[in-house]
Formats: sequence, structure tokens, C-alpha cells
Amino acid sequence: MKILIASSIDPQTIEELRKNHDVVCAFDAKEDRLLEVIQDREILVFRSGVMINAKVMEAAPKLQLLIRAGSGLDNIDLAYAQSRSIQLERIPEPGARAVAEMTFALMLSLSRNVVHANELWKQGVWAKKRMGGHLINGKTLGVIGLGSIGTTVAKLGKAWGMKAIGCVESYSTERRDALHESGIELMNFNDVLMQADILSLHVPFNATTKYMINEAALKSMKKGSFLINLARGGVVQETALYNALLAGKIKGAALDVHEKEGDGNISPLAELSNVILTPHIGAMALESQKMIGDRVLEILDKINQKNAVSCAATY
Ligand code: MLT
Repeated sequence: MKILIASSIDPQTIEELRKNHDVVCAFDAKEDRLLEVIQDREILVFRSGVMINAKVMEAAPKLQLLIRAGSGLDNIDLAYAQSRSIQLERIPEPGARAVAEMTFALMLSLSRNVVHANELWKQGVWAKKRMGGHLINGKTLGVIGLGSIGTTVAKLGKAWGMKAIGCVESYSTERRDALHESGIELMNFNDVLMQADILSLHVPFNATTKYMINEAALKSMKKGSFLINLARGGVVQETALYNALLAGKIKGAALDVHEKEGDGNISPLAELSNVILTPHIGAMALESQKMIGDRVLEILDKINQKNAVSCAATY
């Protein structure tokens, strides 16, 4: 099969694919480059960082399968793919654990000033007296979006001795009861904002969640709370967050996803010492990427087998 890999995935998986397929790699390509390389392709493997819009898919008349090597679907025109009956396979599970663990890496770093203390000491500044931090034990962890990642985060929070609360897009008593059994309290968005000491975002990016954390939401948050975003950049209005941090309303923030991503972008938030910025690495645990790669191989094996069966049936 003719495959285009438009995002970096596990290198061993690419080696494996090359044994049986015609593979072209164009990682994080801009539209012009995608239009060039996609023309004769039947399968597209991609992650975040590329925009798979209708124009890109239109340029590939033989495109029949999209493999989203991860979770988010905000960078693909799903309506267009559906209109052409292009099959979509998503592989969300392996990255979920990695994102949940990264949430804790950022949460602990924020509450104990790990990154700032490291920056100072590397410059010879022994800032011990200025680096008093906070325990996460006993604090209220608010999770916006109790889906698979958010629920894992909330459960890990329980294991760290935190009170876990959160909200979902559509409330139901069944969901409330199921979460209650895991010690997680389901409430509405505003109550989560008001009660959380640490607020962690785990929603997909869409018209409803765009700028969900804006000036009004930041005002509703507890004074001195921390904000963590491993969802999507556009979920947080970064100028409003900048102001809330300067005003001391929000004590610190950690963002793994950003309004502007990719080489060369420097957010104004970068000048604040109580902000941690990482380059969308939530799902980058090597074990998770290997699992995603194995699933890609499985999906393609199944297609090969199906094609072999239909060839045999023709003869
Ligand atoms: C995802 O949606 O799976 C993550 O953002 C990781 C990625 O694809 O880059």
C-alpha cells in the first residue's frame, strides 16, 4: 500500500512498514508540502502538528484510510472524510496514561518550584529560602473533562491523597455514580473552578471548549490556585491567563499545549518564572509511542489480509 506518514511516530514501526509498503515520510509538513506528497497515497498516518483539511484530502483521490496515531481529532476535517467514506482509525488508549503521568510531572513541578529552582541553581543561585512550595496531598484536584485521560488523572490524584472533583460535557446520574465509586465527585464546571486548588484540563478542542478558560473563568478560580493544560492550546485564552498570573490570582501555570505551536514561537508567558511551558510532549512516553506503533502495524496487517482474501475470491 502507498502510505504517507505525516507526523513522527515510533521509528521501528516505520522500519517495519517499509518492509511491505511504499512509505513516504513528511513530518509536520505545511499544506504546500502535504499537497505534493499525498497525491498517490492510499493511507495517511498522522498526529497533531499537521492540518488534514479538505483541500489536502481532495488532492489524494485514492486515500481510503486515515490513522490518527493518538487521540485528538481537532486537526482533521471529519465531515469531508465522511463525505468520501474515508475510514478513520484512532489510537487513543496508549497516550492516555502518558498524558496523565505528565500531568503529575507538571503538577509536582509547579507546587514545589522544581523548574524555577533548577534554573536558578544552574546559574549558581542558592534560592533555598525563596523556594517554599506546597504539598499536593490534601489539596483539591479539579479535572475539566473526566474522559479517559481526565479520569486517570483524578484516580492518580486520589492515590496522592488529593480530593478529586471534576466535570463532564454531558452530566448523567450513571456517570456520577460510577465516578463516585472511584472516589471522584462529579459537579458542574463553575463549582470545579471555584473549589480546585489545582485545575487540570482534559477536554477535546472544539467550538464549545475554545477559550473555555477565559477571563471570566479565571476570575471564578480560587485565588492562588494552579492551572495545568494538557488538552489543546485554544482551550486557554493565554492573554487572560498572563494577566491573571501577573495579578497573582493564579499562582502558577503549566502548559504542554499552546495557542501557537511549533519551532520559533515564543509565548509571552515564557517571561514568567511561575510558568512551565513544554512542547506538546504529553503523549511522548516511548512505551506509549511503541504501543501506538504496534497498533498501526496491526491495522495495516488486517487490511493486507482482507485484500489477500478479496484477491483470492476474484480468482
Ligand atoms: C494526541 O492527541 O494524541 C496528542 O496530542 C499527541 C499527539 O498526537 O501529538
